[in-house]
Amino acid sequence: MLGFQPLKYNQGANSIVILDQSQLPEKETYEHLRTVDDVYNAIRDMKLRGAPLIGVAAAYGVVIAAHSEKIDSIVKAADYLISARPTAVNLSWAIKRMKDIAIKSKNLFKDLYKEAQAIEQEDRSACQYIGQYGSELIKADAKIMVHCNAGALATSGIGTALGIIYTAKDQNKNPVVYVCETRPLLQGARLTSWELTKNGIETYVISDNMAATYMPEMDLAIVGADRIALNGDTANKIGTRGLAIIARYNGVPFYVAAPLSSFDFNIETGNEIPIEMRAEGELRKFNDKIIVADQAMICNPAFDITPVDLINGIVTEKGIMEQPNRMKIEKLKKNVTGSNSETQAL
Ligand code: MRU
Repeated sequence: MLGFQPLKYNQGANSIVILDQSQLPEKETYEHLRTVDDVYNAIRDMKLRGAPLIGVAAAYGVVIAAHSEKIDSIVKAADYLISARPTAVNLSWAIKRMKDIAIKSKNLFKDLYKEAQAIEQEDRSACQYIGQYGSELIKADAKIMVHCNAGALATSGIGTALGIIYTAKDQNKNPVVYVCETRPLLQGARLTSWELTKNGIETYVISDNMAATYMPEMDLAIVGADRIALNGDTANKIGTRGLAIIARYNGVPFYVAAPLSSFDFNIETGNEIPIEMRAEGELRKFNDKIIVADQAMICNPAFDITPVDLINGIVTEKGIMEQPNRMKIEKLKKNVTGSNSETQAL
């Protein structure tokens, strides 16, 4: 299944090969990232994107810097990579892991390479578990609404929200997916439709303003996450909050699917999550053609916060947390930081 790999580290060349997502679905082109600057630019320009994948890319970016075997330049590269995009906590989480290793390592390249591989492998495995647990939410012939791309293109594995859908398909449940196009960069229309149809899933793309019209037909809405606060408030692609409100109005269960690396246990609520503001050109132009009056100003936040009250549950590699709240997330935090790393249902 899947038939593509969004990122692959090439040890011989100490470079990363990425599928350039900015060109999909028109062109399937691969690009070599050979320097820390290449990795930074690819993340910032969203040639690779999705919270877990940018964490993995940044980890390998540190490996590229480790070729020097000089701790100062490795730390400098790590700090630089963190600044590529601010909202997804997976980026700073992965970089912190790499820095923690670098600081105590005597064999920098070898140890950092091992850690980046571990981060990648854990992400792949988390997706599998999320898929397994989340598929319990899906009944036969379910209609599911998704937003943005929380799939194999956004992770090292089968994806989070889409991983659940792929797993349900493997269980012969025949899920049918409605994908919001996800203005302004169209990750839903361009990327999610590409990977779902490549994998034989019945897919309908709708424009974002059609979500309220189609929601009453849905059995479920599932989205990914870029950062989840201690109380369960969740940052995800702009438009997610609106979708959650529409789902609640129509009595459609709204779930978030995310690995533990997307939780920020250091912040209390979504108010503390930094929201990335992107260039106005992303909205002012469409296909390089100006579509907004010159005098009009532009607002372009890349993410919004869905309050926890609108979220029916969060699917992680540890199980499904129904009606998330601070107490349950505190318990999850202990599970992560404690010695028991066994995967178990919550
Ligand atoms: O700006 P993007 O395309 O990186 O935004 C991605 C999302 O919002 C995803 O839903 C999120 O990162 C989860 S990916 C498994």
